[in-house]
Amino acid sequence: MQLERLLHSQGFGSRKECRALIRAGYVSIAGTVCDNPNADFDPGSTDGNPGLAFEVDGEPWRFRAQAYVMLHKPTGHECSHKPTFHPSIFRLLPDPLLNRGVQCVGRLDQDTTGLLLLSDDGQFIHQWSSGKKRTPKVYELQLADPVGDATVQALLAGVQLDDEPAPIAAVACEQTGSHALRLTIAEGKYHQVKRMIGAIGNRVVVLHRSVVGGLALDPDLAPGEWRWLEPADFDALSHFD
Ligand code: URA
Repeated sequence: MQLERLLHSQGFGSRKECRALIRAGYVSIAGTVCDNPNADFDPGSTDGNPGLAFEVDGEPWRFRAQAYVMLHKPTGHECSHKPTFHPSIFRLLPDPLLNRGVQCVGRLDQDTTGLLLLSDDGQFIHQWSSGKKRTPKVYELQLADPVGDATVQALLAGVQLDDEPAPIAAVACEQTGSHALRLTIAEGKYHQVKRMIGAIGNRVVVLHRSVVGGLALDPDLAPGEWRWLEPADFDALSHFD
């Protein structure tokens, strides 16, 4: 693939902008500057796996045919390109990812923290955000009022939400503290966790998503940090009962 086209595919600007970056000597491959926009390189990957290593203005990148990332969503950020009251989570990502048009796989509320997947692969986004697949999502909750066995049993039995034809049951629920629960749900309805907790007369004060499918939030990611998904992450994502 021509270097100019390769850079363009990775979100470094228009073909013209990429050509200018290369000609100005900002791009190196294997430690050597390449200032020829037409130089041919094997990108080395046709899926989400990392391919050719290159540097742009001293920053290391790997070629990725599609972008798949996990973000540790911090509180006070909206999952929207046009946020209303809080900064957008997209401000936490570098320009090349934004230029590639990455979108959230489902949404978290502005005050929810934790694992958020993003991609520029429409099929992947649809597959993992669709309620039909019943992907389990694990949330860690702090609640306003104390919880007990009755709380856990009520959530496992199913609660009636407004606008829903039938009660919705948690896939799993365990008490993790006097005011704390670990709740697994398989749908992805609007404000689902907060509404389920509201339906049993309690209130969520802290909400954190720790797992999607079988994929856990990387403990090395601080709030606001992101990383690429690696092959083992795709395996983990699909491995759930
Ligand atoms: N359920 C909620 O109520 N909010 C979220 O952000 C995610 C699930």
